[in-house]
Amino acid sequence: MASSLLARKPIALLKSEAAETEHGLKRTLGALNLTTLGIGAIIGAGIFVLTGTAAANNAGPAIVLSFVLGGIACAFAGLCYAEMASTVPIAGSAYTYAYATMGEFIAWIIGWDLILEYSLGATTVAIGWSGYVVSFLKGVGINIPEQLTHSPYNLPAALIIVLVTILLVIGIQESANVNSVIVIVKIAVVLVFIIAGIGAISTANWGPSFIPKNTGEFGHYGWSGILRGAGVVFFAYIGFDAVSTAAQEAKNPQRDMPIGILGSLVICTILYILVAFVLTGVVSYTKLSVPDPIAVGIDAIGLKWLSPVVKLGAIAGLSSVILVMLLGQPRIFFSMAKDGLLPPVAAKVHPRFRTPYITTIITGGVVAIAAAVLPINIVGELVSIGTLLAFAIVCAGVLVLRITQPEVERPFKTPAVWVVAPLGVLSAFALMLGLPGDTWLRLIIWMAIGLLIYFLYGIHHSKISRR
Ligand code: ALA
Repeated sequence: MASSLLARKPIALLKSEAAETEHGLKRTLGALNLTTLGIGAIIGAGIFVLTGTAAANNAGPAIVLSFVLGGIACAFAGLCYAEMASTVPIAGSAYTYAYATMGEFIAWIIGWDLILEYSLGATTVAIGWSGYVVSFLKGVGINIPEQLTHSPYNLPAALIIVLVTILLVIGIQESANVNSVIVIVKIAVVLVFIIAGIGAISTANWGPSFIPKNTGEFGHYGWSGILRGAGVVFFAYIGFDAVSTAAQEAKNPQRDMPIGILGSLVICTILYILVAFVLTGVVSYTKLSVPDPIAVGIDAIGLKWLSPVVKLGAIAGLSSVILVMLLGQPRIFFSMAKDGLLPPVAAKVHPRFRTPYITTIITGGVVAIAAAVLPINIVGELVSIGTLLAFAIVCAGVLVLRITQPEVERPFKTPAVWVVAPLGVLSAFALMLGLPGDTWLRLIIWMAIGLLIYFLYGIHHSKISRR
């Protein structure tokens, strides 16, 4: 049994699996598609909602520095993901990397953990989507009864999941095209906000001090507030790693995976820092604890007519986050099923659409129910802690692979890996420590359920340990 727990999947085997595309997934995505996929998953509820909350409650104008910190932590992880994705270019992301480096048991843990990032990530953003849609419709005089738009009957949240699931079953290229259009819309909205706002900045809003004095409580302004703020806005960066789930649908994954992962991360980091700078410059941070802070910023600039446009842009933006998260999850299940850790039915590819349709439909169904039933505050932090755990394991995995298999070809190498990877692990843990005890408890319970399933099913069906 111990040998099964530690069984690693040979890189050569992974590469031959990646090459077998005959009856598998369809290779259609190029570097630009992959970068837009990343941006599609990144810009969403984090920047459109959480920036305001974190500025108002934690960091004040210094939320700009929180974004810099969050960006640095993600850059470490992004560089490690890029090496892994170019070395092991196969669907499944961190799960597959762990299988190749640290063995089946850790791989299962990470695969199970990724459900928090992808399925629960889609759930969280769908609930945020529902909030923006309800607010937009109210603005044009359409009122949906309150009890149908909140947990446990959040119908708009369930509806968007069903629509996205249908699109994902139809095809990867169709999904990527819809994503690209949305990405153009949301980048345009963010740029309009930055350009319109930059001239309207009043430095008085950054006063009396850019870093407001700590109130005496940890995380409430001051430097500890910047740190807590970084933990909150970390959510805004989640998604660049989703690019790695589509490795088997990339035309030239060795070259294009690093471009997609790092390109999308760099673009979004720059946009985020500028948005935070402008937002806290045009309106006092004390007024930003609202569900639609960017719209409040637009009003403060004096461009009221632009406010509905921004809301529409945000709605579109959130849709693409849901799209990419729901694209990532079934592909992770797909890889797990191919390895025997989940029932074989999960690895079925649709004969005509060539998408992993069974897992896409099951994921969509479960997430639609979760989005209707669960409240947003419970799910959001669980997504962050789960993602941070995945980041830490990927950063550690890069080092393990450098030591255990130095000869493997690495089209992209993490620069200064002996510094970057340990800092990636440390910064992920530091941000995890900033999250509340309840969230830790939920993570532990979730992991315990995962272990039970592994010992009841996965360990007995694993293909690698049977070889
Ligand atoms: N980064 C994604 C968002 O902010 C998850 O919505």
